[in-house]
Parts: sequence; structure tokens; C-alpha cells
Amino acid sequence: MTTPIHTRVLTGITTTGTPHLGNYVGAIRPTVQASRLSQNQGFYFLADYHALIKCDEPARIQRSTLEIAASWIAAGLDTDKVTFYRQSDIPEIPELTWLLTCVTGKGLLNRAHAYKAAVDKNNAANHDPDSDVTAGLFMYPVLMGADILMFKAHKVPVGRDQIQHIEMARDMASSFNHLYGEHFVLPEAVIEASVALLPGLDGRKMSKSYDNTIALFAPAAQLRKQIAGIVTDSKAPGEPKATEGSALFQIYQAFATTQESATLAQAYADGIGWGDAKQILFERIDREIAPMREHYQALINEPAELDQILLAGAEKARQLATPFMRELRHAVGLRALSSGSTRASNNANKSAIASFKQYREKDGLFYFKLLDAHGQLVLQSLGFASPKDAGLAIGRLQTEGLACLTELRALCLPLNEAEEFLLSKTLSELTNSKKI
Ligand code: TRP
Repeated sequence: MTTPIHTRVLTGITTTGTPHLGNYVGAIRPTVQASRLSQNQGFYFLADYHALIKCDEPARIQRSTLEIAASWIAAGLDTDKVTFYRQSDIPEIPELTWLLTCVTGKGLLNRAHAYKAAVDKNNAANHDPDSDVTAGLFMYPVLMGADILMFKAHKVPVGRDQIQHIEMARDMASSFNHLYGEHFVLPEAVIEASVALLPGLDGRKMSKSYDNTIALFAPAAQLRKQIAGIVTDSKAPGEPKATEGSALFQIYQAFATTQESATLAQAYADGIGWGDAKQILFERIDREIAPMREHYQALINEPAELDQILLAGAEKARQLATPFMRELRHAVGLRALSSGSTRASNNANKSAIASFKQYREKDGLFYFKLLDAHGQLVLQSLGFASPKDAGLAIGRLQTEGLACLTELRALCLPLNEAEEFLLSKTLSELTNSKKI
């Protein structure tokens, strides 16, 4: 596999709501900035298949898709430079979802935070654990894995709540690569350290689900009104105020320079009135947002133009997705009957070389085994505490071959002389095939 010169950065936004300041600070603004760096190759998309998992209002999904697309562009995304598309315009995504579904442990999905939270809530309410839980919610991480793996993304900027999904995508990629050869790049989550979670009107994380958001592109008058609604303590003008725990101050920091924040902190200490502080916040946000607002309105008024932009983006995305999907279908055996040999044990068949299999047993431990080209068991490991430990042992056997066997012998079931001979033969076949 050739190493691309560019770092592929990919992220999506679920199309279920109107973009708010939290989306802007946490997702839209940093991705627009990243997209401008020449070493990055950006993939940005509207996750409308994901939207179906939590929203059954068609008009809302359509409207949200329009608003998020317009927000991203108004905030400066250069759609000629990046690949900007709508998830549902890429039929290869659900197709890849199925291939990944077949290499994803159900147990892995059982541990996904969003699914577990739904089950916990049901349990707490004495309902059936899976009451109102759709298979869509359960499969959410696999769809997300397909989004990421399809475009061989190296970096995926996300909020903290999404880290687990990126780890799962990595698991899916390794399982698939392990079974069918190196096809996928293992992605990494990127959490912007400087992007703290933006608090909402009530001081909790700004989120649609708390109904505490400030709309991103509302008219200035509405922005001012919403800012006036930010919860503060009841200290009177003239009394010194604490910046610590002040939602107003934290929101200000997300827009201001360090110097500007220091000035406001001083004003807090000097007893600025809340009304004046809110005016300062309004002006600071509006200074950044106002120039984009007009562009946003223009885009919203021309949905057909946005359709064109998104379709052009999908076409660009599919130039990668279509051939890659063809490669993947071939790899798993969904291929022309006339292509290559149809006999399972043909050496020309890439899957018919010796291979390691990793799995988890009922005892909760992680195991691996090595099968030779005919599927015969050659080496059986003992249990490891983590998949990583098992993976490390496999990695050493793959790269060092027999050289590390003495050391690893304690971690595997004992072998007699004949078995040992077979193992050494298989390992050297394996290392040789890797070198080709
Ligand atoms: N699940 C993400 C969220 O709700 C959105 C999303 C879907 C996504 N697919 C993705 C983010 C792929 C990054 C990469 O925030």
C-alpha cells in the first residue's frame, strides 16, 4: 500500500437539528480551519443515515441537512478543495456497513455507550431492557465505521463522546484486515484540546437534548435575546464576579483572543454588571458570525444550488468509494465466478495462506490461533487479558517469526516435535508471503 502524502481528515455531522454555537465551536469552525492546511485532505459530510436513527420527521431531516450544509459553507469550507457530500448519496456506505457488520462482534456493540445508556434507562424504569431500542441504534457504530474506513481516514475530529466509536472502527478495520488482507487504514480520533465543551444557556453542555442552545445563524436581534437568557448568579453591578463556573465567560473565551479574555476577567473582578457583560459577549460573537450570516441566508434561499454542490461532492467521493468497494467485494469472495479459481484451497487465492485468528472466549479472555493454508490448527494461544496483548504477540510472530518463539512459548499450548516442525514451516511461509 502506498503512503499518501496527505493526512486524510474526515468528519460528519448528524442532520437532526439547527446548528448552534456548540456545533460551530466544536465541529464546524475547527474542521474549516483544518481544511485550509495544505497537508490535509478533508472529507466532510452530512450524516443523514445516522439522522434516521434518532429522528422520524422527514421534513426536519431535510431542513437540517440544508442548514448544516449551508453553515459549513458559510463558515468558509472550500468545497472545491475538500470532498463535501451527503452520506446517503454514497450507496457504497451501506454496502460497506454490511461487510463490517459481518466482522463485528455483537459483544462489542453491546458495550457501545449510546446503546448501553438506552438499556440502563430501561432497566432503571423497570422496562424491558431493549424497549424502544431500534436495531439502528445498536448498529450505529458500524455505520460510522463504514463512513470512516471507506475513505481511509487517518484522523477523525470528534467530540469526546465519540471516541469509543473511533476505537470500534479501528477494531472493525483490524478484524477485516486480519481476515482478508490489508485493505483498511486504522483511524485515530482527534480531540481538539482547545475546544472545551461549550456550555449552554443553563451552564450544562450546549446540546439540543437539553434545549439550552444558542442558534448559530439566527438574526442578530435573536442572538442578543438568547444571550440575555444565559444563566448567571445574582450578584449586583459593582460586586466582583467569578469567571470560574461562569457559562458566559466560557462562551466568551471560545470566541475571544487570550488578551480579550484577560480583559473580561479583569472586568469581572472589577464588578462589571451582568447586562454589560452580556453586551460584550453579544458583540464579540456577532463580530465573527455577522459576515457569515448573509452568505448563510443566501445559501438557504438557493437549495437547488446546494443540491448541486453536494452531488458534485458525492461524485468526487464515489471516485474513491466505487473502486474500493469493488476491491473489498473481491476480497471477501463476492466476485465473478470466472475470476481466478473457485477452489477454496488454491495457493493463488490470497485468503488461502496461513492466518492468525483472534477471538474472545466465554472466560472473558482473548485468544489467538494460527491456522495453516489448509485451515489446520498450528498454534493455539493461552488466554490474554486484553486484545492488545494478544495482538502484540501475533505482531511479533508475524514480524520476527521463529525468532521470538522461545519467548512466546509460555503463552501458547505446548507442542510436540511434529507440531513444532509444522509451526516453524507455517511461520516462515507467513513471513515470506508478507515480504512479497
Ligand atoms: N456520530 C457523529 C456525531 O453524532 C456523526 C458522525 C457520523 C461521524 N459518522 C461519522 C463523525 C464519521 C465522524 C466520523 O457526532
